[in-house]
Amino acid sequence: MTDRNAFTQKLLLDSGIEKGMRVLDVGCGNGEVSFLLQELMEGTGEIIGIDSNEAAIAAAKNMADEKQLTNVQFIVMNIEDVSGTLGTFDRIVGRRILMYLPDPLQAIKALAKVLDEEGCMIFQESDATGSGSQSETFPLHTMAQQWVWQTVVHEKGNSHIGTEMYTLFKKAGLQVKSVRAEPVLQTAETGSDLGWLLGVMRERIVAAGVSESELARMTDAALSKEMANSQAIFIRDMNFGICVSN
Ligand SMILES: C[S@@+](CC[C@H](N)C(=O)[O-])C[C@H]1O[C@@H](n2cnc3c(N)ncnc32)[C@H](O)[C@@H]1O
Repeated sequence: MTDRNAFTQKLLLDSGIEKGMRVLDVGCGNGEVSFLLQELMEGTGEIIGIDSNEAAIAAAKNMADEKQLTNVQFIVMNIEDVSGTLGTFDRIVGRRILMYLPDPLQAIKALAKVLDEEGCMIFQESDATGSGSQSETFPLHTMAQQWVWQTVVHEKGNSHIGTEMYTLFKKAGLQVKSVRAEPVLQTAETGSDLGWLLGVMRERIVAAGVSESELARMTDAALSKEMANSQAIFIRDMNFGICVSN
């Protein structure tokens, strides 16, 4: 399990995920959460991952084939189009997806219709609240972190969905069973994933207004040096989680 799955795993286990369940992973991307579910359910039950991005679904399908999984299915589908044709689910799971939806309330209401009476939905989102507060100790890390959020906002994503989730689910008429939040801490020992993330998001970050030359100066080496010299903890992100039922 990668570190980035540790918080997700806690949310899923606390929701009572069990062998044999039917689970829907919405906005599944390349299937990372679906594969985590597969491990937690020890290869039993049925997992369906949906995503609007064809390339992401193709990558998820390839990985499922490589792993020779028969109980995990990936489908190109918009979350807004989820309907009874997929059946109902014991668990509906989504990670970093509500932040990208133009109308998350509508999507939540649609999902509630395919949630089993005894089932629950588990969502994990990030939130920019607090980011930027360490600019004195970590000027480069803070700038890189802000470029990432600037890009999310430029793409019309909601950088405060973590703190807004509770209100959204209440508005949708769902019962909130638990909420939690946990900072993602990085140090010289853990290293930072920001250099990698900037690389993955390069084109999007430039489209959001950061110049190629600024990006080029933000090297892995510069980030590592800043972390090593700081002798301090960098708060890289804030994970928010919620578990709700009908
Ligand atoms: C940040 S990725 C998260 C992927 C995955 N949940 C994870 O945590 O690894 C967000 C995903 O949401 C998908 N997405 C965005 N809007 C969507 C929509 N309306 N319906 C379905 N998927 C959507 C994107 O294609 C992308 O794969």
